[in-house]
Amino acid sequence: MAVAVTGIKPTGTPHLGNYLGMIRPALDIASRTEAYYFIADAHALTTVRDGRRLRESTYGVAATWVALGLDPSRTALYRQSDILEVFELAWILSCATPKGLLNRAHAYKAAVQANQAAGRDPDSGVNAGLYGYPVLMAADILLPGADLVPVGLDQRQHVEIARDVAVAFNAVYGDVVTLPEAVIDERVMTIPGTDGRKMSKSYDNVIPVLGSPEEIRASVMRIVTDSRRPEEPKDPEQDSIFRIYRLVAPPDAAASMANDYDRGGLSYAEAKRRLIDCVVETFREARNRYLTLLSHHEKLEDVLRAGANRVRSRATEVLDRVRAAVYGRNEPRVETPRVNNGP
Ligand code: TRP
Repeated sequence: MAVAVTGIKPTGTPHLGNYLGMIRPALDIASRTEAYYFIADAHALTTVRDGRRLRESTYGVAATWVALGLDPSRTALYRQSDILEVFELAWILSCATPKGLLNRAHAYKAAVQANQAAGRDPDSGVNAGLYGYPVLMAADILLPGADLVPVGLDQRQHVEIARDVAVAFNAVYGDVVTLPEAVIDERVMTIPGTDGRKMSKSYDNVIPVLGSPEEIRASVMRIVTDSRRPEEPKDPEQDSIFRIYRLVAPPDAAASMANDYDRGGLSYAEAKRRLIDCVVETFREARNRYLTLLSHHEKLEDVLRAGANRVRSRATEVLDRVRAAVYGRNEPRVETPRVNNGP
């Protein structure tokens, strides 16, 4: 059976774009494969300096996965920082990774370009974690032996780098690690945000998935439309309300909104009302599960600990092969570290 691996960085709460572009396809894949999904709290260290906040957002992302349908008895859900093997593999991989590969990574390049544009030193404010980010990500992916990596479009380059790292490693040591492939849902490549640009936390144009009905309403009301009057026909493809609605609503409801726009008579206000109802209804039960889980950290800890144990039994096999290849010794390790039980 194919193995799927993906992670979400716990910075902020997942929005509709994350759900449609990554979480929903990942859950679909998890129902058909052996899947290992995690919360990338170590990756968050490149920007987050507040441990207490990091811990809370980690629970938030764990609760989101489960509330939206991840079945922990089937799919391992774990916290990256519990898997010490990831960090060992990251170092080994970094020694097989051409530095130039990391120079070309989008996130690092963007930081350098922003510095240059502002006349600062190119590496000003850039920590080595940001630079090495793609290698840690390669370790996340290669450690459980991923074939498939369901991600949003923004992570395509990272998965390509992980594959390049795997190829570079195997070129030296033989057929040791599995080559991963990104799985990107083409239908939802770009989900418009409320301002018409791609929906993204950094543009502050998101619709929360598990927010309160009031929060969902407020964000939908911000969707920017043109000045066409209610009776005028409108091209649904040009309208963000419709382009979001179609990805959430049942096909017949989406078809009827398209029709109503074509014929004229559907106002943007009414279209927004349909979108609000649809999002609130679609996620009502998930939101209730989310709130319940968030008030039971001990349940989330149980899920995360079980997930960590599951992924570590696979990880150990892969890492033993890697260690044998790079250190030239096959004997069993002295001791395997235990999963941290937390404070
Ligand atoms: N970099 C990803 C993001 O910012 C999170 C991530 C970390 C990830 N490790 C991963 C995604 C491994 C897929 C596979 O969203």
